[in-house]
Amino acid sequence: MMNLLVVGGGGREHTIIKKLRENPGVETIYALPGNGGIAADAVCVPEIGAKEIDKIVDFAKSHAIDFAVVAPDDPLALGCVDRLHEAGIPCFGPDAKAARIEASKVFSKNLMKQYGIPTARYEVFDDPVKALAYLKTASFPIVVKADGLALGKGVLIPQNLREAEAAVKSIMEDKAFGDSGNEIVIEEFLTGPEVSVLAFTDGTAIAPMVSSMDHKRAGDGDTGLNTGGMGTVAPNPCYTPEIARVCMETIFLPTLAAMRAEGCPFKGCLYFGLMLTPDGPKVIEYNCRFGDPETQVVLPLLKTDLLTVMQAVEQETLGALDVAWHSGAAACVILASGGYPEHYEKGKVLTLPASTPENVTLYHAGDKLTEDGHLVTSGGRVLGVTAVAPTLQEALKDAYQAADTVAFEGKYLRTDIGKRALAALEG
Ligand code: AMP
Ligand code: GLY
Repeated sequence: MMNLLVVGGGGREHTIIKKLRENPGVETIYALPGNGGIAADAVCVPEIGAKEIDKIVDFAKSHAIDFAVVAPDDPLALGCVDRLHEAGIPCFGPDAKAARIEASKVFSKNLMKQYGIPTARYEVFDDPVKALAYLKTASFPIVVKADGLALGKGVLIPQNLREAEAAVKSIMEDKAFGDSGNEIVIEEFLTGPEVSVLAFTDGTAIAPMVSSMDHKRAGDGDTGLNTGGMGTVAPNPCYTPEIARVCMETIFLPTLAAMRAEGCPFKGCLYFGLMLTPDGPKVIEYNCRFGDPETQVVLPLLKTDLLTVMQAVEQETLGALDVAWHSGAAACVILASGGYPEHYEKGKVLTLPASTPENVTLYHAGDKLTEDGHLVTSGGRVLGVTAVAPTLQEALKDAYQAADTVAFEGKYLRTDIGKRALAALEG
């Protein structure tokens, strides 16, 4: 029997943990830190945060961990996988050098340019004066990105020179995203449907997962501020088999080869954020990890045992494994705290249904257990309600119906998750 450790404590980690539990050889799963809802499926250790690498490694050593999964970007960029490997613990996730594909936009843009991987044209600046001079010659809208990790918020799309100057000032001078803004990328504004493709890779072999579509803006009709993601559907109807073939040839395999050539083969889950432009698919961003809430719609459709896939990635035998998927569709509706992604209140008591239909799962993202055992809200995104069904229409209907059965003060959700996907299906 195996003891597993999962680093992280959101809806993505809850989904990974529920899926790992399906393996009959799993004895105990520890979640560092985990959350209130995860405590029903794993042993949570709220005292150890996902960025506390020394404590995570000590914990793994003292708890006879057979396999670890490092899910969030921060610990990956901080070298959590490198350190666990040094301690002799097999794990899933890229090392720090490979995690730069997400942790530094300058690194990933230069990689794509050098290896001819399609992406938006761009310039890099470390001097605000030069960035401002460049913007005077640019056309709008344009895209300004902080180099480093910024909780998905480091991308600004100014519509004119005045807004662009404000963007550069806020990132480079006011340090709105801290040291992440020491360098910036200014890039061409692309248009077209967006697709997220997560892929298992052991550095050479690749097994793309079912495609998905995120809904990043806080409000219906894609209005309001960018969030971590307000809902997802899978598969993404815009991602046809022909586009998948083009992406494999022009983006996925060249990216893996580029990382090997740079001496940092990528092992783990590589997330391709793609835009299907009139000139073909282009990379908007890479993430070095599972997406949140993409994971909540993608992993429920995985037929092959997740732990087996993760072990094949670690052992570099993925090419010999047939990674299979269920047909059908999944939809996830995020229940957020009113006010998210800005100011919101915490500590609201959660009322959950006594049971949910068999095809519905509540993935807990931002909640905690009180001393007397009640679940209360503790974050912006509180729950992800996922339904799996033969069609996207049914999955959305079931997810929204189940979302209605959860109550907490200030509960906020988008009412149009999947609307664009359904329109694309109807074509
Ligand atoms: P990112 O954090 O890099 O995923 O960017 C957040 C969002 O900004 C993306 O999901 C896109 O909608 C948008 N975006 C980023 N780069 C571009 C671009 N070059 N052109 C148009 N939109 C972009
Ligand atoms: N949902 C987007 C992300 O995980 O980056």
